[in-house]
Amino acid sequence: MQDQLSALLAKAQSELPAVKTRPEFEAAKARFVGPNGELTGLMKQMGSIPKEQKPALGKLINEAKTQLQAQLDATLRQIEAAELQAQLGPAVDPSLPSPDLSRGTYHPLTLVREEMCRILRKVGFNVVEGPEVETEYYCFDALNTPADHPARDAQDTFYLPEAARFGNVSKKTPSEKYLLRTHTSSVQIRTMLKGQPPIRIVSPGRVYRRDTSDATHSANFHQLECLYVDKNVTVRDLKALLDYIFISLLGKDTKTRFRTHYFGYTEPSFEVDLSARHLPKVNKEWIEIGGCGMVDPTVFEGVGYDSSVWSGYAFGMGLERLAMLMYGIDDIRYFYQNDVRFLKQFA
Ligand code: DAH
Repeated sequence: MQDQLSALLAKAQSELPAVKTRPEFEAAKARFVGPNGELTGLMKQMGSIPKEQKPALGKLINEAKTQLQAQLDATLRQIEAAELQAQLGPAVDPSLPSPDLSRGTYHPLTLVREEMCRILRKVGFNVVEGPEVETEYYCFDALNTPADHPARDAQDTFYLPEAARFGNVSKKTPSEKYLLRTHTSSVQIRTMLKGQPPIRIVSPGRVYRRDTSDATHSANFHQLECLYVDKNVTVRDLKALLDYIFISLLGKDTKTRFRTHYFGYTEPSFEVDLSARHLPKVNKEWIEIGGCGMVDPTVFEGVGYDSSVWSGYAFGMGLERLAMLMYGIDDIRYFYQNDVRFLKQFA
C-alpha cells in the first residue's frame, strides 16, 4: 500500500505540470482524487487491511491526500496566472515612446477664439483676461444692472455660498455675493478701473448660466467681449469694427445688422445679427450673434471716467454660436464631450 501511494504521488508530480487548461485540470483532479479516482481506489482497500495496520496506513493515506491536494492547488494557480497573462497581453515598457504618433488638434472653440483675437489684435486691441468667479459689483452693479434685474435672479445665476472665500477676487462690500460670471462684460469694469483711456481690449472666456443643457444651451459656454474707449467714438465705428471682424472671420459676403435692444451698460444698445448664406450649413437669412452698444455714461462715471470727455463702444458674443456657424455643428454639447471622432475633424 505504501508503495502504491508513493507511486501515485510520483505520477501526479510528473503529469500535473503538463496540465494547462481548466478542462484538463478537472479531468486530472477526477483521475486522482475524484469518487472514482486512484486515491479513492486505494482508500477503499482499507477494508481488507488487518486492524492493527489501519492507524498507520490511515495516516499515510491522509498525508498522501494532503500532498496531492497541494499539487493540484499549485497547478490551478498556474492556470489562473496564465489566464491573467493572456488577458493582459504582452508586457509593455511605459518608458518607450508612444506607438501612436498622431498629433493632437486644437479644439474648435480654441480655433475660433484665437482667430478672433488675431483679427482684433491687427486693429490694435489687447487681449486681457478676467476671473470666472466674480462679485455682484463687477458682474452687475458696475454695469448698471440693478438689484431687481431678472439676470441677477438665482434662477439664472450661480451664486457661491456665503462662506466661500477667494483670495484673488476682492469684494467691494462685505454683503455682496460671489458668483460665477454670467458674461464677460465684467472684464470691461476691471479694465477701466485699472487706468485711463484710451482703451482697446478683447477678452474671451468662460461664462456660466443656470441653463438646462440641450442642443443650443449649456450651463457653461464661452463669450468674447470687446471694449473701446476714446474721444469721439460713434456707432459708426462700432458697426465698422463688427463688419471688419465678421468679414475677416467668415468671408467678404458676410453682412451684419443692428436691431435696437436694451442693455443697462450701453445706450443706445443693439443686438447684432449676421447674414452668411455662403456658409454651407446656414439656412437662415439672419442669425443673432451678440449684443453691443455705446457705453452708458453711468458706467463711465462709476469707474471715474468723465463721460463728457470719453465715449466708447462695447460688444459681447457667444463663441460656441460662432463655431457652430463656421463648422456646421448642430449641437452645442459636442464641444464638451471630448469625443476624439468629433475633435479630430478640426485638425
Ligand atoms: N453681456 C451681454 C450678454 O451676455 C452681451 C453684451 C451686450 C455685451 C451689450 C456688451 C454689450 O458688451 O455692450 O448677453
